[in-house]
Amino acid sequence: MNLKGRDFLKLLDFTPEEITYLLDLAAELKDKKKKGILVDDMHRGKNIALIFEKTSTRTRCSFEVAAHDLGMGTTYLEPDSSQIGKKESTADTARVLSSMFEGIQYRGFDQSIVEELAKYSKVPVWNGLTNEFHPTQMLADLLTIREHFGYLKGIKLAYMGDARYNMGNSYMVTCAKMGMHFVACTTPKYFPDAALVEECKAIAAQTGGSITLTEDAMAGTKGAHVVCTDVWVSMGEPDEIWAERIRELSPYQVNKAIMDNAGEQAIFMHCLPAFHDLKTKVGAEIGERFGITEMEVTDEVFESPKSLVFEEAENRMHTIKAVMAATL
Ligand code: CP
Ligand code: NVA
Repeated sequence: MNLKGRDFLKLLDFTPEEITYLLDLAAELKDKKKKGILVDDMHRGKNIALIFEKTSTRTRCSFEVAAHDLGMGTTYLEPDSSQIGKKESTADTARVLSSMFEGIQYRGFDQSIVEELAKYSKVPVWNGLTNEFHPTQMLADLLTIREHFGYLKGIKLAYMGDARYNMGNSYMVTCAKMGMHFVACTTPKYFPDAALVEECKAIAAQTGGSITLTEDAMAGTKGAHVVCTDVWVSMGEPDEIWAERIRELSPYQVNKAIMDNAGEQAIFMHCLPAFHDLKTKVGAEIGERFGITEMEVTDEVFESPKSLVFEEAENRMHTIKAVMAATL
């Protein structure tokens, strides 16, 4: 397997074998990290640029720690602090950065921006989240699921809530690729884009996976190995849509009834950050405005032994390290 020089923009671009290779490499790098075995000779002396047009905790820290562990230097370009998109085009930015750095991470808005960055860059470009996809998150989730159940093929993953944005789209693609069963539980307004659904159904037909879209949360989550969700309003979306989202997506909250319905085997996953209490600025504001204490997941489920959210968060670092180690 040789992924040197490849971009990592979305899982649609990778075969199941390539994805498995990245997971195996992540598991190996994780094991080395736990044992204190250094890997800083892997890419010593290289440098990477981290472009963030949206905020981040996990993704930024994962890229920075993983780069350091691989022997590399990092430059963080925070939202609004560079010329990108304002005084300088994506194409020009790509040509400038790829003359100085060995790799470029981009987090921002349209998928077309990261695709254009990759088109004009001479070095690998990694997608750290766009409106449409969050592929590094998918590797972390797959590693977490595989560590827990020991396998991926045949796993049923039920996704609750806003299924037409980066997390819903990405889970659908991921399940199709890995022979898993994806079920989106939400109202049709939040179903993923029809063309992407068809593309994923065709992939699933080859891998033994399946794609189901349903309004029935109980039928959709029954027997699920993984129940997952995401915030109801994503970064970059306007504040004004909170009321509509709370009204439309509340029936798809992950709570104890849903987890009990899924069954004994079910685990809970969330890319984070999550609104499971009022202990955040935004959570407290929403709580005050709408008289609610939790949103996409109840605190009871979030804090339960079934919740693997912090294992999932840790695996962001190991999997991002694998992506960089493999593509540089
Ligand atoms: N899950 C995730 O991407 O988290 P951050 O927004 O903190 O990077
Ligand atoms: N859908 C969320 C994911 C955050 C990791 C967002 O785009 O804000």
